[in-house]
Amino acid sequence: MSLETKTEFGTARQMIEADGDFSRRIDDVDLVRVDLACGKRKKEGFIGVDKVATEKTDIVHDLMVFPWPFKDDEVYEFNCEHFVEHIPMTLPSGENGLIRFMEEAYRCLMPGGTIRFAAPYYTSIEAWQDPTHVRAISERTFVYFDRKAMQAADLDHYDIKTNFEAVSRIYRLHPENEAYSDERRADRKGCCCFAHRAGLAERRIVAGD
Ligand SMILES: C[S@@+](CC[C@H](N)C(=O)[O-])C[C@H]1O[C@@H](n2cnc3c(N)ncnc32)[C@H](O)[C@@H]1O
Repeated sequence: MSLETKTEFGTARQMIEADGDFSRRIDDVDLVRVDLACGKRKKEGFIGVDKVATEKTDIVHDLMVFPWPFKDDEVYEFNCEHFVEHIPMTLPSGENGLIRFMEEAYRCLMPGGTIRFAAPYYTSIEAWQDPTHVRAISERTFVYFDRKAMQAADLDHYDIKTNFEAVSRIYRLHPENEAYSDERRADRKGCCCFAHRAGLAERRIVAGD
């Protein structure tokens, strides 16, 4: 699958457009869509998970506590806006926070399922304005969760149990940037939306298979 990339003007508050086809069913079953760390802005048609019970939260759960309340391969689509940059570097267990998060999303996603993120781009002033942001996010962040890319980079000895493939990327520049010539480097404010698909090539191996 090829990677679709585009640049548009907009603000970080604009929500990512999701698949939108809510009539789609697989094996006559409704598809499970989950908005991770939804806060007060849950995506329509999604189950909202947040550690805080807002009016939009359907499941109160701390996403740094594993496992999440979903079965293996249960979720068709995850939406996750303005949360990855808050994920702690290290969990109390000593595990890397982002790797553990991505592995858990991968466990819950059905093969071919999608996870979409929106995060402030690492060069943007918005990446570091909030004292609760603890990591910078760029397109390179997600290379480490793509097995083929890791093989190509000779980094497949990393112990990361995911097989995501990047399917689309949107660089969203704040309208204030219109005055600047270079699209990305002059990015004083801006965010990036990423969609990644869980590997179709194999189903995850469960003990006893
Ligand atoms: C910047 S807000 C984004 C909210 C929403 N997705 C949006 O785009 O407006 C971050 C959200 O992450 C939630 N959050 C922070 N840590 C969390 C955790 N460990 N587990 C679940 N939710 C968490 C917060 O309660 C907050 O609603």
